[in-house]
Amino acid sequence: MKFFLDTADTGELREAAASGLVDGITTNPTLIAKTGRPLAAVVEDLVSIVDGPISVETISLDAAGMVDEGRRFAAIHKNIVVKCPLTREGLKATKLLTSEGHKVNVTLCFSAMQALLAAKAGATYISPFVGRLDDIGQDGMILIRDICEIYRNYGFATQVLAASLRHPVHVLASAKAGAHVGTLPYKVFQQLFNHPLTDSGLAQFLSDWKKVPTA
Ligand code: E4P
Repeated sequence: MKFFLDTADTGELREAAASGLVDGITTNPTLIAKTGRPLAAVVEDLVSIVDGPISVETISLDAAGMVDEGRRFAAIHKNIVVKCPLTREGLKATKLLTSEGHKVNVTLCFSAMQALLAAKAGATYISPFVGRLDDIGQDGMILIRDICEIYRNYGFATQVLAASLRHPVHVLASAKAGAHVGTLPYKVFQQLFNHPLTDSGLAQFLSDWKKVPTA
């Protein structure tokens, strides 16, 4: 499973990337707005920190506008993935952009049928939002499992990018379902490393080591 960081914050990205375990980045307009900086400046920094797919989201509502934005994003750096919303216009743009050789991440996916349409449109990635479904009382993980099963049934090359992951259990369940990628907020990425028994075990070993004679 690949790990992307779901952030536009260069400070936390640098820290997470220092682990050598961050394979890519996803951003969205909310994350870019939080930086208080222009999109181009943020993207320039992101591509210099992680050498992997970096999703940058379009904000047009019509396919022509998305295609225009997508072409401009893709021209910035070879690693840019154009993020289009899962709307009729978004899927039209996806089909066109991917036919030109650009990579497209179809975002805001909340049903397996939407995901099937995205795969048929040639999406490189589909982003089902797990946490936002949980927020409205549905089980977001069912969506990940359904999409993985449908894509396997038909051999689609579209990668399942589990998004809106709020805690390590979401990551575990996505991995068990076979999601190709999980995009993680910084906090969740850091949580994956931790276990109290690792901490107490290490403390015990270091304390016992002090009792070992040096000669
Ligand atoms: C994914 O591409 C989105 O940026 C993100 O995972 C959304 O997460 P949220 O529902 O926590 O905002």
